[in-house]
Amino acid sequence: MKKIITLGGSNSKNSISKALAEYVGSLVSGVEVQNIDLNDYEMPLFSVDREAESGFPKTATALDKEIEKADGFIIALAEHNGAYSAAFKNMFDWLSRIEGNIWREKPMLLLSSSPGGRGGQSVLEIALARFPRHAANIVGSLPVPFFDANFQNGKITNKELNEEILTLVDQFEKAL
Ligand SMILES: Cc1cc2nc3c(=O)[nH]c(=O)nc-3n(C[C@H](O)[C@H](O)[C@H](O)COP(=O)(O)O)c2cc1C
Repeated sequence: MKKIITLGGSNSKNSISKALAEYVGSLVSGVEVQNIDLNDYEMPLFSVDREAESGFPKTATALDKEIEKADGFIIALAEHNGAYSAAFKNMFDWLSRIEGNIWREKPMLLLSSSPGGRGGQSVLEIALARFPRHAANIVGSLPVPFFDANFQNGKITNKELNEEILTLVDQFEKAL
């Protein structure tokens, strides 16, 4: 059975991006789903000096191995000041030093979410422009706005938004 990873781009305990990634992951049929919490892979703040002195953190190499073993990714980004959260960017920087082709050309759904009306569109645009340079095979993307109104009891409640997500999941399943 194929295995997919879901990942929210934030280390907050009640992360909306993590909830979104896990919800979308639960819609994919016929796969094993591994929900990854960034808090389980906490890494020291990246610096070239730290890397030269101590090498890669164990959590970074462990996460890279999980990524290598997976067949696809559902990533939902959080937006902090128009960009990646510090926790996600730190993870990204470490992973890029271990293996430039982080995402191994495996299918990815790339989402973003925020409580506001743009749904994290700025960070999504940043990632859409950058991830392909790290071997991301992005088969679909979507910003999810007004998260608190559109997501209740672990599910997307807005019918049109959910239809869009189901279409993305269909594309993702076909690409796996
Ligand atoms: C430091 C900080 C900066 C933020 N900047 C933005 C922003 O630029 N755009 C936005 O839509 N929301 C912004 N927010 C609100 C986040 O979208 C909101 O906190 C969201 O819950 C973050 O995702 P998470 O729950 O997965 O951590 C910011 C929140 C914090 C704490």
